[in-house]
Amino acid sequence: MAFIELDNICKSFKTGNKETIVHKDLSLKIEKGELVAIMGKSGCGKTTLLNILAGIDYPDSGKYLFDGTETDIRSTRDGIEFRRNRVGMILQHFALINDYTVFENVELGLWETKLPRSERNSRTNAVLDRLGIRKLADSYPDKLSGGEKQRVAIGRAIISDPMLVLADEPTGSLDSETEKEIIDLIRELNSTLGMTFVIVTHDDEVANCCNRVITLQKH
Ligand SMILES: Nc1ncnc2c1ncn2[C@@H]1O[C@H](COP(=O)(O)OP(=O)(O)OP(=O)(O)O)[C@@H](O)[C@H]1O
Ligand SMILES: [Mg+2]
Repeated sequence: MAFIELDNICKSFKTGNKETIVHKDLSLKIEKGELVAIMGKSGCGKTTLLNILAGIDYPDSGKYLFDGTETDIRSTRDGIEFRRNRVGMILQHFALINDYTVFENVELGLWETKLPRSERNSRTNAVLDRLGIRKLADSYPDKLSGGEKQRVAIGRAIISDPMLVLADEPTGSLDSETEKEIIDLIRELNSTLGMTFVIVTHDDEVANCCNRVITLQKH
């Protein structure tokens, strides 16, 4: 049994009379600890796939098995439980909160947990140390470089110690030198923490750093 299994997933969107079929009988398996790239043309459904894996969207039909269990995340309580413990997300444009400090942005990754303040502080500081941004703890995002912002976003994604980390074009807004730094960091987190990563990318260099590439077709 693979860690992640999608079994004949179908997904379409209806806007007015128009139906867009995004995924038709999509099946895939991802093993624990893999670092997988998802590639494919714009509009082929990469972000939709990540949203399904993250439990923030649902397939119309087909099965999603996570760690051997079929996910049923349509109810709010199960959805919160699923996202709280299992999945972290990293986005292209970082999605940081500008009124929050670096420390608070990283700590935000614990928002659905009920940890005491002391534990939140020590976990946040440990993640800031691991990502080399402890000295930026009291800075605000608008004072940071793109690479620093992405480190903060990665910190927020991994602080809850998720089994699966999903990244939607994590280097899409970065120059090539910073892109390399961020990819090296993702590889290090993947190998030292054993977290499974699924990374959407348009960039061959990023894909080459992954263990495997899954290419989606447009319908
Ligand atoms: N909420 C939605 N409502 C209607 N259509 C949607 C919705 N979300 C996505 N789509 C459509 O589904 C298709 C797949 O979108 P998706 O964002 O998953 O593509 P993508 O592969 O991530 O593209 P890109 O590389 O440009 O980010 C597109 O045709 C898009 O317009
Ligand atoms: Mg997308």
